[in-house]
Amino acid sequence: MSKIYAAITAVGGYVPDYVLTNHELETMVDTNDEWITTRTGIKERRIQKGEGLATSDMAVPAVLELLKKRGIGAEEIDLIIFCTSTPDMPFPATANILADKVGAKNAWGYDLNAACSGFIFGLSTGAQFIETGKYQKVLIVGGDKMSSIINYEDRATCIIFGDGCGAALLEPNTEGNGIMDFICKSDGSGRDLLNQRGGGSLIPASHESVDAKLHYAHQEGRAVFKFAVTNMADIAAEVMERNNLTSDDVTWLVPHQANKRIIDATATRTGVTADKVVVNIERYGNTTNGTIPLCLWDWESKLKKGDTLILAAFGGGFTWGSIYLKWAY
Ligand code: UT7
Repeated sequence: MSKIYAAITAVGGYVPDYVLTNHELETMVDTNDEWITTRTGIKERRIQKGEGLATSDMAVPAVLELLKKRGIGAEEIDLIIFCTSTPDMPFPATANILADKVGAKNAWGYDLNAACSGFIFGLSTGAQFIETGKYQKVLIVGGDKMSSIINYEDRATCIIFGDGCGAALLEPNTEGNGIMDFICKSDGSGRDLLNQRGGGSLIPASHESVDAKLHYAHQEGRAVFKFAVTNMADIAAEVMERNNLTSDDVTWLVPHQANKRIIDATATRTGVTADKVVVNIERYGNTTNGTIPLCLWDWESKLKKGDTLILAAFGGGFTWGSIYLKWAY
């Protein structure tokens, strides 16, 4: 019997309409378009505006688009893994809320919290349910409403993050396409450098925690940058090396979009030329769990069956990971 691989068979995406440009940020904090562009590569990011809207509300259109493209109903989904750092609420899981909103009546689901590496961790985890033959349709969603935890007075942080959500469907493939290999790593000793300290069991919400701005994302940018730039590049190179892939074998490098300089370093380390690196950071900024699925969504029309993709990410936790996959459609 031929081996069952977990292959992506459809993608969907959604970004909110509101465009927060570098020029608008200039009116909010002491920054300028030139600094943001040269230090990060970001020109604009999307923001989810409006009362009563949350991360799941970006996932709904992404998932409905995916289902339509694949020509299946929501009730056919077996499992939803929702990768997010900004769940609608601490519990219940946003996966459950999404399932209810799209009518995925037969799915169970859970949220996966691995910050910017979430989608890599989610794909790696979801693939196991397909490869064992247990399930036929596993939905991996990655998205964040970063604007809900960003301090728009902190110029070092507010300029990089944006809102958005993407989704990918995993199904069995016996033609030799799908997820070939993955490496995922985490190191909790980095927890003080990138986190949201308030709102958990350590520091429950209180007047004091709000006054101390502990419910916002906190990032020590320069320190995180050093870890990100080496670990993301190294893990992409590691997954390539152990699968005997050279840069010529790679059709597309799909890196997490945190900073264009980190993307460039990953391309240099792996030897993948700029024309084969998927980049949309200039339009969406860093959507945390959303970056990689939104890259796949943006590039879908250029991807061909059998293409070799290397996905790589680094995020808070610290977490980092890389996937080697062969595109299946
Ligand atoms: O998503 C997963 C994990 N996150 C990442 O991978 C992000 C990693 N970090 C970064 O991308 C970068 O560190 C940032 C984009 C966040 C910051 O860039 P940087 O080049 O590391 O800047 P810095 O924090 O070292 O600051 C350099 C200077 C400082 O001024 P002085 O002390 O040299 O006078 C900052 O105060 O730039 C100043 N600065 C700014 N200036 C204008 C910091 N933010 C801004 C700003 N506009 N928005």
